Amino acid sequence: MAGFSRVASRLYALFTRNPSTARVVVEQARLQPNDRVLEVGCGAGGAVDLAAQALGPDRVAAVDPSPTFVEMVSRRVPGADIRVAGAEDVPFDDQRFTVIFSVASMHHWDDRAAGLATLITKLAPGGRMLIAERLLKRPGHGITPAQLAEVEAELAELDQIGIHTVERKAGWRQLAIIRSTRPLAAA
Ligand SMILES: C[S@@+](CC[C@H](N)C(=O)[O-])C[C@H]1O[C@@H](n2cnc3c(N)ncnc32)[C@H](O)[C@@H]1O
Repeated sequence: MAGFSRVASRLYALFTRNPSTARVVVEQARLQPNDRVLEVGCGAGGAVDLAAQALGPDRVAAVDPSPTFVEMVSRRVPGADIRVAGAEDVPFDDQRFTVIFSVASMHHWDDRAAGLATLITKLAPGGRMLIAERLLKRPGHGITPAQLAEVEAELAELDQIGIHTVERKAGWRQLAIIRSTRPLAAA
């Protein structure tokens, strides 16, 4: 589980207090009052903050491998449950969340397949997952069309349904948001 170092976390936070990517993804999550939300790889906590404003902090949780980010977000959003962990080892009960999202984080995960498989176990039946990455032409800090197709195929292998990608502008970035839903009951 590799996260940002203490210095990298502090520098990153300086430049991403209120990123448009967080706003776009939280809007796309179409949160409902009863939702229980998990963000994976929360960084400085822009999206956690927005979700907590919409639902109340007690309905919002997040993980990030960087203890610096976890400390920062715990202070920024008191009452939200923020823990040190990666996508591959999320320390919450299975089926706890109705919404799980991740913003610009998946390309950092040590093991994408293990991360996706873990997250799906944390989704309640009928729960939705949104994975957002910057759309790129070449592999880098984001996702290429070929990688998008791989992730969609991995989600299908994991029995997610309604798998599709929407593209949205967030500032100067073009975001790809891969949406999928956990079926209500096993087929
Ligand atoms: C580019 S930052 C994005 C942070 C935030 N979501 C945002 O949009 O500003 C990537 C984040 O992914 C986290 N990360 C790195 N490895 C991870 C892993 N295995 N699982 C979950 N998050 C991870 C980093 O610590 C960092 O906070």
